[in-house]
Amino acid sequence: MANIFPRWTNILPLKIAICLGSMALCVVAGFSYYGTPKTQRVGYMPDQPIPYDHELHVKELGLDCRYCHSFVDQSGHANIPSANTCWNCHQHVAKGSEKLAPLRAALGLDKDHAPIEGAKRTPIQWVRVHKTPDYAFFDHSAHVNRGVSCVSCHGQVNEMPVVYHAESLSMEFCLDCHRAPEKHLRPLEEVYNLEYNPKEYLAQHHAALGVEDYDSNWSEKKAQLELGHLLKEKWSVTPRTSCATCHH
Ligand code: HEC
Ligand code: HEC
Ligand code: HEC
Ligand code: HEC
Ligand code: HEC
Repeated sequence: MANIFPRWTNILPLKIAICLGSMALCVVAGFSYYGTPKTQRVGYMPDQPIPYDHELHVKELGLDCRYCHSFVDQSGHANIPSANTCWNCHQHVAKGSEKLAPLRAALGLDKDHAPIEGAKRTPIQWVRVHKTPDYAFFDHSAHVNRGVSCVSCHGQVNEMPVVYHAESLSMEFCLDCHRAPEKHLRPLEEVYNLEYNPKEYLAQHHAALGVEDYDSNWSEKKAQLELGHLLKEKWSVTPRTSCATCHH
């Protein structure tokens, strides 16, 4: 008897299974992606126990990020400063300020900075703004020591009276830069300078850097790309895009 079903149909059930399976996967992924708050986290700006102002302390007073976030270039994790770091100045400055009451409380001191008897020292309960899910791996020092500035991932923090979530920090966001880091790389001494401008930088340093076709009419974007490509080659920056880079 002739075979009514040609040979290729043997794998048809498998094909259907794969097809349905991957559709189900897409639906699940879609729901979990759009159903969870991460798509809305840009702009997230929680109230903090103390109205600490980055614009005042960074832009006006000129403090370096590392004065407070002192591990950012040494470890994967960027720390939030302890109350002692604030106290270095605030034992003298804005003494008795109502806004600093939680700072004094954390140190077990009253309004006149006298120790409160029996008071325990407890850390200030800052509310976390940025958080990578546990299944993804991130490392600060791997970025800031390779010419990626805070501003690329956190926005213009030096102009934020209250810190907010400026970028999505989604997987696509990470990968966009891993595929084309030249759009962001800058000289290491400019990583903590949130007012850095590549056009101005090249105007001053193009000769020393050996940028032969330098043109003062280059746009900021063009200047960034030229400099970014140069640094990428010079330092052989090659961010990986394999899944295992960020998912161990
Ligand atoms: C005088 C100390 C101080 C300095 C200087 C400082 N910060 Fe902060 N930063 C803090 C404190 C305190 C917090 C936690 C409270 C808040 O979110 O405002 C914080 C929070 C942050 C956060 C949000 C952390 C989170 O919860 O996700 C980012 C991002 C940040 N700082 C970036 C910077 C950058 C970039 C600079 C330099 C341009 C800088 N900071 C300089 C004290 C400082
Ligand atoms: C290098 C010194 C310095 C450090 C470190 C510092 N501050 Fe300040 N801070 C100042 C100065 C100067 C002012 C402005 C005081 C004024 O306007 O009278 C100020 C103002 C403030 C104010 C406003 C006070 C008011 O009553 O208006 C708050 C709140 C504050 N700082 C919180 C903090 C916190 C929290 C930290 C630690 C994360 C911190 N500061 C670290 C110098 C510092
Ligand atoms: C390549 C992107 C990227 C760069 C560059 C970057 N950050 Fe972050 N930052 C992140 C991510 C992602 C998180 C969340 C990390 C996590 O959950 O472990 C974060 C978290 C933080 C936190 C919160 C840590 C905590 O435990 O609450 C601080 C503070 C911070 N960054 C400061 C900085 C400073 C200061 C710089 C520049 C010197 C900087 N970051 C550069 C992506 C970046
Ligand atoms: C603005 C550019 C940029 C963004 C955004 C960025 N990265 Fe990177 N990433 C880099 C560069 C540059 C390197 C260093 C590559 C090298 O050393 O050759 C790197 C390296 C890494 C490494 C390797 C560290 C190691 O020890 O080898 C990991 C992991 C990583 N990034 C994770 C992330 C994650 C997760 C995000 C998103 C939250 C992210 N990156 C966003 C540019 C970026
Ligand atoms: C440069 C770092 C990086 C690389 C490389 C990377 N991921 Fe991710 N991935 C992340 C981060 C960060 C998140 C969390 C995103 C968020 O919080 O929105 C994530 C989330 C995910 C999620 C959850 C769904 C989603 O989109 O949020 C899946 C699934 C995933 N990654 C799979 C992969 C696979 C498969 C690969 C390899 C093809 C890969 N990732 C490569 C950083 C990376």
